[in-house]
Amino acid sequence: EKGGYEHFMLKEIFEQPRSILDSMRGRMIAESDHLMMAGIREFENKFVNANRIIIVACGTSWHAGLVAEYLIEDLARIPVEVEYASEFRYRNPILNERDIVIAISQSGETADTLAALELAKSKGATIFGICNVVGSSIARATDAGAYTHAGPEIGVASTKAFTAQVTVLTLIAMIIGSKRGTLETTKLRELMVELETIPSKVEEALQLNEQIVQISEQYKDATNFLYLGRGYNFPVALEGALKLKEISYIHAEGYPAAEMKHGPIALIDEQMPVVVIATKDSSYEKIVSNVQEVKARKGKVIAVVTEGDTTIPAMADHVIEIPETSEHLMPLLSVIPLQLLSYHIAVMRGCNVDQPRNLAKSVTVE
Ligand code: F6R
Repeated sequence: EKGGYEHFMLKEIFEQPRSILDSMRGRMIAESDHLMMAGIREFENKFVNANRIIIVACGTSWHAGLVAEYLIEDLARIPVEVEYASEFRYRNPILNERDIVIAISQSGETADTLAALELAKSKGATIFGICNVVGSSIARATDAGAYTHAGPEIGVASTKAFTAQVTVLTLIAMIIGSKRGTLETTKLRELMVELETIPSKVEEALQLNEQIVQISEQYKDATNFLYLGRGYNFPVALEGALKLKEISYIHAEGYPAAEMKHGPIALIDEQMPVVVIATKDSSYEKIVSNVQEVKARKGKVIAVVTEGDTTIPAMADHVIEIPETSEHLMPLLSVIPLQLLSYHIAVMRGCNVDQPRNLAKSVTVE
């Protein structure tokens, strides 16, 4: 059942080339300019004319929502807010008929997300679901939606569901952007072609596994970790930190790299591993300075960089090279080494990675 892997989590990490492909299948074919999702088409006018998109979710799904905020605002130019479902539902939120509320949930059963959705529905908003489990409560409660075709996710720590969610959200941002005319045809085509290459680039990133085992050996006894990223990689930093906390029980925090100097920099010393996601994108120069700031305080830098980069490797203690892609799609690649890092550290610490203590796969109570 684990397909020769030691744990479901590892199997699911390695399934990502396939689950990402399955989540785009039938929805996008770059060669023939095909880009269509039934759930969006049904509500096309609502999406095109939306005042605002509010995304509600918890945990890893909330991180996928943060990636979508960058995607939708950039490609479709609609204001997006990403809310923890538990906070949103008790805040007496302001909502109306021109708002679209998107709930993201792997299980489709998360109590707070479901309640947030019901509340939004009662206020007249259009509600849209992105779920992995077919026929789940959230999927049934929505006006329309799109499934992630990740297949069953058994490991409690979410991995392939996250990349499937980001894939679907990317397609949604591209579709709305093209319908609204905010995403030019040439740019849209480029993104479609690039998105089609992602499964094979994820496959390449998975070949880093052995290298990551070695890095894990060196840091498995750390008591704290910091994860830094900017732009599209900021949510990835949060996700990397969450994965490590959940399964290895090492305290970890994810931060937007520029926020470091507003507090967490005080934590940095020679004992502190700092994972920096520093791929070649529009914030690259800025993150180079952030790496310098960490090194000046003797922090240990584990950098995730774009293949061929020479600047960061000259400063970092460890360099993990991933393939180049558009910054819009980078989270699909940059999260892979972080999933592997948390997995190997947890295994080395003797933790039960598929069933971490105190956690449940689906949180059906608030
Ligand atoms: C993280 C994790 C949790 C879930 C969260 C939401 O690895 O598994 O943080 O992401 O409980 O669950 P869903 O997506 O089922 O609503």
